Amino acid sequence: MAWNAEQYQAGYSFVWQYGRDLLGLLAPRTGERILDIGCGTGQLTAEIAASGAEVTGIDSSPAMIEQARRNAPALRFEVRDVCHMPYQAEFDAIFSNAVLHWVPQADDAAASMARALKPGGRVAIEMGGRGNVRELLAASDRALRELGVPDPERYHPWFYPGIAEYAAILERHGLEVTFATLFDRPTPLPNGLRAWYEMFGQTLVEPLSPAQLPEYYRLVEQSAGPTADYRRLRIVATRGAGCRP
Ligand code: BEZ
Repeated sequence: MAWNAEQYQAGYSFVWQYGRDLLGLLAPRTGERILDIGCGTGQLTAEIAASGAEVTGIDSSPAMIEQARRNAPALRFEVRDVCHMPYQAEFDAIFSNAVLHWVPQADDAAASMARALKPGGRVAIEMGGRGNVRELLAASDRALRELGVPDPERYHPWFYPGIAEYAAILERHGLEVTFATLFDRPTPLPNGLRAWYEMFGQTLVEPLSPAQLPEYYRLVEQSAGPTADYRRLRIVATRGAGCRP
């Protein structure tokens, strides 16, 4: 998916404002090497660096990484796919906020994270969990059906696991889960619903022609309100000393 980093930074600051809370679970310490996966425009990467840790931010979007470098020129940012990271036992901790639900190849991501961590290293992640944006997806599906698209669920790009499902994936790769929670976070959308679908829902509208888009947005706005029904999955896990990823 092509990201508009400037619009993201201007309109979706709530993503990293909520993510700040997760920094408490990460508990970065001076001198630690920390990897921020899916760093976006780098605001939380900079907050991790402010703790005295040595942080690397990665994102699969070149536009996001360019913006992150403009925001925090002294920090290290790299364009990378979480599933194919080259790091081997280099990091004390991995942080990731609001990203891993974009990665349905969750086993590949977990294996790659486990490889990147030193033995005893930890991950602190938050992502959309089971039931995330159920109402927004239902509104999109209804609109697509009205526009003649069969099986609109095929166009859902996200992976929203429950606690047991994601914990099992991490544990298959030697990451022992020590904390997990799934909770509702209804989130007012500062720029409204249409802007949210335009920013994040490009895959949902793949089957539509450009001429059908105004009607699609009219229909979704008719059936969903301007608050996203976010549900967050938070997990902390530790790479077991015996893990051989
Ligand atoms: C989320 O953070 O849960 C999310 C963000 C954009 C699209 C879908 C989900």
